[in-house]
Amino acid sequence: MTLPLARNIYFTGFMASGKSRIGSLTAASLGWKFFDIDKLIEEKTGKTIPRIFAEDGEPAFRRMEVEALREVGGQGPMVASLGGGTLINPEAIELIRRNGVLVGLHASPEVILERVNRKKESRPLLANLDDESKMAKIKEMLELRKPLYQLADLHFESDEKIPHHVLTRRIIHRLQVDELKPLTVELAERSYPIYVEENLAGHLDSIAAKAGCPQRFLIVTDQNLKSHQKRMLEQLRSCLGDCRIFFFKSGEEEKSLKSLNKLFTFMLRHSYPRKTTLVAFGGGVTGDMVGFAAAVYLRGIDFIQAPTTLLSMVDSSVGGKTAVNHPLGKNLIGAFYQPKAVAISLETLSTLPPLEFLSGMAEVVKYGVIRDPEFFAFLEENTEAILAKRPDLMRQVVLRSCAIKAEVVGKDERETAEGGRAILNYGHTFGHAFEVLGGYGAIPHGLAVALGMRVAARLAVSLGMLTAADEKRQNDLLDKLGMPKHFPRKLDENKAWDAMGLDKKVDDGSRVYILPKRIGEVVPVRDVPKETVLQALAVARESKGP
Ligand SMILES: NC(=O)c1ccc[n+]([C@@H]2O[C@H](COP(=O)([O-])OP(=O)(O)OC[C@H]3O[C@@H](n4cnc5c(N)ncnc54)[C@H](O)[C@@H]3O)[C@@H](O)[C@H]2O)c1
Ligand SMILES: [Zn+2]
Repeated sequence: MTLPLARNIYFTGFMASGKSRIGSLTAASLGWKFFDIDKLIEEKTGKTIPRIFAEDGEPAFRRMEVEALREVGGQGPMVASLGGGTLINPEAIELIRRNGVLVGLHASPEVILERVNRKKESRPLLANLDDESKMAKIKEMLELRKPLYQLADLHFESDEKIPHHVLTRRIIHRLQVDELKPLTVELAERSYPIYVEENLAGHLDSIAAKAGCPQRFLIVTDQNLKSHQKRMLEQLRSCLGDCRIFFFKSGEEEKSLKSLNKLFTFMLRHSYPRKTTLVAFGGGVTGDMVGFAAAVYLRGIDFIQAPTTLLSMVDSSVGGKTAVNHPLGKNLIGAFYQPKAVAISLETLSTLPPLEFLSGMAEVVKYGVIRDPEFFAFLEENTEAILAKRPDLMRQVVLRSCAIKAEVVGKDERETAEGGRAILNYGHTFGHAFEVLGGYGAIPHGLAVALGMRVAARLAVSLGMLTAADEKRQNDLLDKLGMPKHFPRKLDENKAWDAMGLDKKVDDGSRVYILPKRIGEVVPVRDVPKETVLQALAVARESKGP
């Protein structure tokens, strides 16, 4: 699937900057019409440009240009290359901006001179000059025209090192990325976009360029994706200049300083400089580790999240929490470090095992309960189609979840405000206990969270905060999705209580619970008697009925 392009494309730049060549290649590869404005005018008048200048004067020529622009602009979608001085005329600029994008091509004076000399066609401005005088003239004119070319919306270097077809592809992809409307995590100078599309693997270089990331890349992924997402991984690699790929072993138990150190050794051995962009292609384990690696490698480098599990799409890739596990607890060694962009390719979900998909859906339901009753209702109405991963619905699921996460993170990046980012921990305090008791990795994170949400809702009902009807509504949706109703082993509530105590989310000794008041709103609650909590925990115990 390719991304759409809606606007006409106009190339500007100095003589021999490649406007016509790159312009016509761009048009050809899009299947669009191509117009060379100078040539068009020459054809229409039957005169060469120097002759028009000599016989009719420059103002007349500028009028012809505007006329030509008006004519071709209406024939879109199309690509046009402009004359060297077209942008002198404000009327021309206005016409171009109306439905087009202006792309500037830039080449060094040396490259320009070389190209001019190579070509037979005469350049009236440089006629009868020796190389030295040509160079001086080129430099002088470049300086003069610079403010005009700066008007371009996008700038590309067109030297001989980049093959024309590569440059053309880069330009098209960048324009496509520019037309996307990503969500934004608003964090002042650390703000970043979240793109959600079917497949962004071929556009990662443009996304990185737009985000201001260095163009030297290293993809980091996990072993499972080598086979599951072979094609996309290859696409990604080729888009990122055939960069290297580093593989972590798969699994939560690999989320450690030891694995991280292997990555550091690899990067140091290959002399990756500070101007490197790491691309995390994988689930939350990969994303959390790559984020932390980016935070500390050479004191901090850029990274992009390209999540491939539902959980990482809707949760871990957004918000800048990065970490590895320690033998004494999960995610204890880490940093707040935001990515430069999040690029979600929904297509990756096709190979995700059902249990992993379900795990992500628990976080999705969480967003509905903590923030968005309409979204919750949407999930209720479309449960089956979502379980079948219907693409249009998955897009909405991911977009809405990311929007909620982005909003919450934007207001409380470091989880310091009361009722701020901590609301994302809904279901997690109890879920965490189930993960610990089950042994890490035994119960997928999301499934533990879903069970934790059942406990939290029960606690809220017993405290008189939530109606039993709303508790049922939440649990019915969890049931319909196929979430576990009970802890799969014998549950000792006292042990669960102790396991909760290890959770770093418990601050200053007093326990804080995120509890629902209704579908769509949760609040932090302190000082709940232990007895009440133990009773609520019992909902997760396998019933001993007949
Ligand atoms: N940073 C945060 O804010 C945050 C939030 C929630 C969770 N997390 C962390 O995220 C981790 C869990 O993330 P996860 O559930 O994505 O785990 P994961 O990264 O281990 O991925 C789950 C499994 O799916 C495989 N996989 C990934 N993408 C696949 C695909 N497209 N097709 C087939 N298989 C695929 C992986 O190899 C792995 O075996 C935990 O470590 C948790 O602590 C972090
Ligand atoms: Zn979670």
